[in-house]
Amino acid sequence: MDYGFDTLVSRKGLSTVKYDLMDKNGYPPDTIPMWVADMDFPSPPEVRKRLAELAGLGVFGYSMADEAYEDAVIGWFSRRVGYTPRREWIKVTPGVVFAIATAIRAYTEPGDGILIQRPVYHPFERLILANGRKLVNSPLIYRDGAYSIDFDDFEHKLKTENVKLFILCSPHNPVGRVWSEKELKALSELCIRYGVIIIADEIHCDFIYPWAKFVPYASLGEEALERLIICTAPSKTFNLAGLQLANIFIPNAALRDKYSAVLRRTGYGEPGFMALHACRTAYEQCAPWLDALIDYLSGNLDLLRGALRERLPEVKLVEPEGTYLAWLDFSGLGLNESEIADTLKHKARLWFDSGSKFGPEGAGFQRVNIACPRTVLAEAVERLTESFKK
Ligand SMILES: Cc1ncc(COP(=O)(O)O)c(C=O)c1O
Repeated sequence: MDYGFDTLVSRKGLSTVKYDLMDKNGYPPDTIPMWVADMDFPSPPEVRKRLAELAGLGVFGYSMADEAYEDAVIGWFSRRVGYTPRREWIKVTPGVVFAIATAIRAYTEPGDGILIQRPVYHPFERLILANGRKLVNSPLIYRDGAYSIDFDDFEHKLKTENVKLFILCSPHNPVGRVWSEKELKALSELCIRYGVIIIADEIHCDFIYPWAKFVPYASLGEEALERLIICTAPSKTFNLAGLQLANIFIPNAALRDKYSAVLRRTGYGEPGFMALHACRTAYEQCAPWLDALIDYLSGNLDLLRGALRERLPEVKLVEPEGTYLAWLDFSGLGLNESEIADTLKHKARLWFDSGSKFGPEGAGFQRVNIACPRTVLAEAVERLTESFKK
């Protein structure tokens, strides 16, 4: 089945974050944008067909997450991800970032510590600070080209920094780790010991490369479930971010009630009609599309890895286990971050995310979104290797 992954769909001029901010940010017009985490691929054909049918009806009244919708969500996670959310756990929100902000308000007070593991998805830090909570960082260890958790530091921070909430990124954006069961169990035991609530942001859980295995936090047992908020969404998986929908699972009834109370205060009502139907169709029908997509992304990763090894060995790919984001270590070039950013912007005409966006621990790295047609990636790799060649 040809899903059109090789074809670039032009989105310029459609108010898109990826294509329509270039000028404003001083990027030349022929820049290849590989920063923000949406894909260049069209959503699955079944989703597009359903949305076209609904657009044809032309009536866009209020909608609701009913049982058929919930069944689709439950079905996806039990068939595909490896655990079965209960119907009553599900809270629908306009996004994962929105849900994390809501959880921060529901479970912590101003001044409470919230722990993150930098370098990490930057809105975590922004939400903690914007809500007047204390940022507690337990940085990941980067050694021999791979990332791991510093458990001693993690425990020390839980013990001494008044940590009430831990935001786990699993799989981890930007470093691409898919945490092992052993690592997750160790984190979970510490959170239980120190009475910490966990937000497991599992938005990237559908992007697991064949050499890795995703372990859902929900599979760690009853005690783990009791203090857990799981953030999921069809937005990354099926390229639906612009439709604004996330499914949040909260197993513990008391935590759910607290969350619902804060959610009510925001005034948020029911999810959008198109988003609901897109999610339902994707979860019911589009597993084969996702399999094909993972295959395609593995091919893209091979291209990037091969080209760097052959033509620009000073830049190292941190081998990802999941996500469609490649984390590149530029430190071997001996340039500082602004020199790297300058060369990328003006010489290579590539828009990557500079590593320090994810915390100072990310300095010297660049995050590259490889979810684009292979010809686009090949052109980007060509520009990259030519621009930094000694
Ligand atoms: C780890 C992580 N969480 C959340 C999001 C965004 O989620 P949403 O668009 O649902 O707010 C992203 C997007 O890149 C992400 O990487």
